[in-house]
Formats: sequence, C-alpha cells, structure tokens
Amino acid sequence: MLIGIIGAMNEEVIELKTIMTSIVEEKLGDLIFFKGELKDKKVVLVESGIGKVNAAICATLMKTHFNVDKLFFTGVAGGVNPKINIGDIVIGSDLVEHDFDCTAFGYELGKIPRMSEYQFKADEALKRIAVEVATEVFGAEKVWIGRIVSGDQFVASPEKIKWLKETFNAYCTEMEGAAVAHVCYLFELPFLIIRAISDKADDDAKVDYPEFVKLAAKNSKTIIEKILEKI
Ligand code: ADE
Repeated sequence: MLIGIIGAMNEEVIELKTIMTSIVEEKLGDLIFFKGELKDKKVVLVESGIGKVNAAICATLMKTHFNVDKLFFTGVAGGVNPKINIGDIVIGSDLVEHDFDCTAFGYELGKIPRMSEYQFKADEALKRIAVEVATEVFGAEKVWIGRIVSGDQFVASPEKIKWLKETFNAYCTEMEGAAVAHVCYLFELPFLIIRAISDKADDDAKVDYPEFVKLAAKNSKTIIEKILEKI
C-alpha cells in the first residue's frame, strides 16, 4: 500500500519530512515529491503550493504518476463555526468549492454544472480512524467533523465567515481541500482532509495566522503520524 500526503506549504510538510526515512526525491516540473517510509508505511509526500490549482495538480500526479492507494491532505485552516478555536482539529466530512458560482444559470452556490457531485465526501474508514486518534491525542472537545470549504481566497472578514456559515454550513475554510477531494472523486481514490485551525478567518486572521501556523501544522502532523500507525 502506498500513501500520498500533500501539504500546501513548507510549514505543513517539514514536520512529516523530518520523520520520514529512506527518502528518494522525484522532481516533476517544479514539484519535488519525497518517496520514503513513515511509521513503517510507504509514503509519497509533496508540498503543493497554495490554492486549488496547485493542489489539484499534486492530487492528480499522486494518482496517475505514483498510483497511491489513499491520499491525505494536511495543514491549517481558518475557523468558520464560532465554536471552533485556534488549535482545534477539523476532519472534513465533505468538501465544497465555495468560490464556484454559476448562480447566473440557476445553480446553487458551489454546484459544478454537469457534474453529479460537488460535495465531495471523505472516505468513511479513514475518517473513523482520524476521529479516534485525534480524540485520543487532543480530547473530544477539540475535534470536529464537518464540512470544509475551499476557495482561492484567504478569508479575513466577519461578513465572509457569516456567508460561509450560512451558505454552506462550513466548519472551516482553506484554499486546497475541495480541489483534492474533487480529483479523488474523479479517480475514485479514498481521501481525507485534516485541518488544524490557525485563525478564525476574521479581522485578526492575518495576525493570528503566522503566530499559530506552526502549532497548527504540528497538530495535524501528529494526527497523520498516528493514523499511519493504524492503517
Ligand atoms: N488557511 C488558514 N487560514 C485561512 C483563512 N483564514 N482563509 C483561507 N485559508 C486559510
């Protein structure tokens, strides 16, 4: 079994890379994929870069070039549900592209015309394991399972949070997860998106983000490590 792991930024993959062994690099275009072992599992790790296109390219290569059996995306997100705090963990039950807007043709927001699915669902078995290990490590009050929404926007306004909550019932927002989920849906690849909250996507987001990104990235790395022990 080969497991793919994607993180958008260096902060999000560096922790995992330092505990990988037998690393072999493979460069595809500008992307460097690290093949190796982690917790006795064969893994491929890549820093995708920020945003939906970068994430979709990496997810596609994970399937078509490396032929991974399961794919994880790990990193940080802005909290949308007011109950969720910085440092908490959100495990994505399903993912929606919040900036997909064909309402001019009568489609609901997020709906991708001519696709039967746009609320891309995470793999049930991976979700169950992730909830179990995250609860074990962080405590039930810090672990949330719900919808993650993605768009090519760093959200930093109370109005936008309100809109994301009311329109999509989003738990958190980030810039890659739904693109990965979209690719995985097309290739029937089991996936899970795990996010640690680095900010609350409000007026303070750009101040909180750099302060908490490292802690949040550490939290999501801990979960991936523990999940690998169980699959
Ligand atoms: N990733 C972390 N915080 C975020 C935010 N507020 N908006 C989008 N992506 C994020």
